[in-house]
Amino acid sequence: MNFAKRLLRLVITGNLFHVVRNKSRIANGKKHYLLPRPLDTKYGVAGIINSVLSALPKRDNYLEVGIFKGATFQSVIAGNKWGVDIDPAFDITKLPRNVKVFVKPSDNFFAELNLDKMFDMIYIDAEHTFAQAYRELVHSVNHLSKWGVILLDDTVPFDDVAAISDESESKKEALRVHGTSKWSHQGDVWKLILQVSEFHKDLIVRTVLGPSRPRTIMWRNKSFGTKMQMAMTNKYASLTYETAFASGIPNEFNVKDLNEILVELRDMNLKTH
Ligand SMILES: C[S@@+](CC[C@H](N)C(=O)[O-])C[C@H]1O[C@@H](n2cnc3c(N)ncnc32)[C@H](O)[C@@H]1O
Repeated sequence: MNFAKRLLRLVITGNLFHVVRNKSRIANGKKHYLLPRPLDTKYGVAGIINSVLSALPKRDNYLEVGIFKGATFQSVIAGNKWGVDIDPAFDITKLPRNVKVFVKPSDNFFAELNLDKMFDMIYIDAEHTFAQAYRELVHSVNHLSKWGVILLDDTVPFDDVAAISDESESKKEALRVHGTSKWSHQGDVWKLILQVSEFHKDLIVRTVLGPSRPRTIMWRNKSFGTKMQMAMTNKYASLTYETAFASGIPNEFNVKDLNEILVELRDMNLKTH
């Protein structure tokens, strides 16, 4: 988007003053505030989230697990937005009125969450490891409205270096193999897609290839019972990226165009709600 368009969007959404104030805060060594109103963005991951939310019967409650600077979080259009992060990279003392931020590990957040708290959509984008993302997925599924949808970031690694589970190991290997530590890291969240496909057949799995990088969308099918329970992880924990992706993205990922997925979601919601 060019400068004039970006400026116009800031004016239309009433965020211009806040962006200027943030720039001055950052120049003075302070953290920025989240923008008070969502940027009406159709781009990037916020574009996917807003499109999915618009296909659901309600968009009252959104949760983001791993919010970092809040770039995606502040662009999401939902009634109430909750975020959890061990170390958010923005100032949490002044938040938009419909926003709550929990500064703690996601495991603690879910352990303390009321059992009856449900979300229309949850975006899982914290530590990109199979073990952590699996725990977050199980908790998330158990806190999802009937029509709720989960989005998982970075489910298809760029290469075997990006697929190394530990981020600092991945960066070291990137320096050795590619000559730069600025290599993208996606970790081994990809194992979760295979785990779900085999052990959680009551979840529907779809993967979108863009924008910017692949992500996976999941929701519960009609046969879902009352609770998701973790299954044994040894089969996929020991699988290597080279084996799993030897012939490209495995079929279990169910790669689809976002528009087709939105049709599926609208169709399901028309039939069941
Ligand atoms: C990739 S960034 C999130 C980016 C953000 N979702 C966005 O779209 O702009 C990952 C964030 O997850 C947080 N994080 C890592 N492990 C976590 C955990 N166990 N619990 C909560 N947050 C975690 C990190 O502090 C970091 O800010």
